Amino acid sequence: MLAELESIKTEALAEIEGITDDTSLEAARVGYLGKKGKLTAASAGMRDVPKEQKKDVGQKLNEVRTAITGALDEKVATLTAARDAKRFDSVDPTLPSRPLPKGGLHPLTHVLDEAVGILRRMGFALAEGPEIETEWHCFDALNTPEDHPARNERDTFYFENGKLLRTHTSSVQIRTMEKLVPPVRIIAPGSAFRRDEIDATHLSAFHQLEGLYVDKGVTLADLKGALEYFFRELFGSKTEVRFRPHFFPFTEPSFEVDLKLHATGKAAKWIEIAGCGMVDPAVFTEVGGKRGDAAYDPSEISGFAFGMGIDRLAMIMYGIPDLRLLIENDVRFLEQFS
Ligand code: PHE
Repeated sequence: MLAELESIKTEALAEIEGITDDTSLEAARVGYLGKKGKLTAASAGMRDVPKEQKKDVGQKLNEVRTAITGALDEKVATLTAARDAKRFDSVDPTLPSRPLPKGGLHPLTHVLDEAVGILRRMGFALAEGPEIETEWHCFDALNTPEDHPARNERDTFYFENGKLLRTHTSSVQIRTMEKLVPPVRIIAPGSAFRRDEIDATHLSAFHQLEGLYVDKGVTLADLKGALEYFFRELFGSKTEVRFRPHFFPFTEPSFEVDLKLHATGKAAKWIEIAGCGMVDPAVFTEVGGKRGDAAYDPSEISGFAFGMGIDRLAMIMYGIPDLRLLIENDVRFLEQFS
């Protein structure tokens, strides 16, 4: 019996040693340790072993089983290691992982951040007002008469309750003067809405950046200096700024501002970028009437205001040919700016 067990062990270890695949290994396990395996069969012979030899034979049986189990486990480890090594053959597991796609800021946000940053350094504080406005804040207080084309139902989105989607951020001028006394120096970025046909240069929802400065002795020279400085900070010191006489109901005199950029390499041409002017005394009078005090007495104070399209600033800054790209949320377009 002892010799038989020893020979099973020798045979098993030799067989396992030569195995190179999982299937043969499993066959060997079953062949020796399985229900009908050789070792199992041999241990059934324990019954016939004389009592005085049982201890020795039992010990031998355990020794052989341990040896075979150990050899099988070792082989599993060897085969697994070989398989892993082969799998990594064509891969360098020490390479850094692929970058995960990251979100980025929208080009409008980039431009706005820069513009607001410059104006804040110039001393302007951020102000805001509602997008759903009263007619008074959007038009009447801004000296815009009842028959002005901007108030037409074809140009402005009205609600049934008489409120409207603000057609410009100039309403924030009024909101600010209702609350604060001069000196007032604010900027108000935000959305504005008009019933425009959407095309490459028009959106029905767009973005403006409003500015207002009211104090004693504010002059047109302050307005020109402030805007020239601002645009040169934003687009480069060689940028030319031109003030063209224009009309707005709420400023007098009024101007449109054109820019000529010299950084693009293309033949420079004038681009209209903003409206501005000296706050019309009629606006101060209207605000004063609402406030019921003399804080905005037009014989005491003066001011300038400006408003520009943020979407247009982005077009210029990034050479974007079509405004619609800004609202389509096409990742291929947006990821260029992140
Ligand atoms: N609100 C004017 C517009 O939307 C721009 C403007 C703002 C003009 C402030 C003068 C002063 O066209």
